[in-house]
Amino acid sequence: MNVKVAPSILSADFSSMGEAVKNCRAWGADLIHCDVMDGSFVGPITFGGQMVKNIRPLTDLELDCHLMIEHPQTQVKFFADAGADYITVHYQPCARISPDYLKDTLQMIKGMGVKCGAVVNPDIDVEKIFDVFPLCDMVLLMSVFPGYGGQKFIPSVLDKIRKARAYAVEIGRPDLDIEIDGGVTAGNAGDIIDAGASILVAGSAVFGASDPAGAVKAIRGRS
Ligand code: DX5
Ligand code: ZN
Repeated sequence: MNVKVAPSILSADFSSMGEAVKNCRAWGADLIHCDVMDGSFVGPITFGGQMVKNIRPLTDLELDCHLMIEHPQTQVKFFADAGADYITVHYQPCARISPDYLKDTLQMIKGMGVKCGAVVNPDIDVEKIFDVFPLCDMVLLMSVFPGYGGQKFIPSVLDKIRKARAYAVEIGRPDLDIEIDGGVTAGNAGDIIDAGASILVAGSAVFGASDPAGAVKAIRGRS
């Protein structure tokens, strides 16, 4: 499978975000991962649709918007209008609202012409989102508890990746993108890819590297 690397701009210097976004392409990245936090579903607040709108003209890389927020339906249009290529939403805040909220949100995203994905935290079984796999362009499995960059990868997620890939094959979607987010490094990327992931998010491992282009290449590895 073709493996993609998505640097997370959460680890960039927000005072020079334009430069960071342009650098991602020069470093050989495939997507740009935009971590949106609301201070409620997760503690910190990062940025909203305006940031995506402002960086959109600076790159032709796809913008992968990871919404770590409550009530995601209230924000979908802002990100779609801003030029997001992917919008992903977490299972938990949706499940708290109603059993259909996640499915409805994914359909709303697709209806706006944007690729969609469902996200589970490390302590949520991937089976909880099996019912929406057919709707998803991507499934995002968190390998840290969301909120902060620079945390350690939780190894039990490897098993979850295998389960998700097996289920994608079972439903006739063998190429469904499975994205892993949190604690990805050149050291663990091989195991993550072998387990069946196809998109690897990396914040500190890219922006904190002395050779970010080399880090992107090392994370993508043999593929
Ligand atoms: C965590 C974010 C991640 C994070 C990844 O809440 O969703 O995207 O920025 O950063 P690293 O790669 O440093 O764990
Ligand atoms: Zn993220």
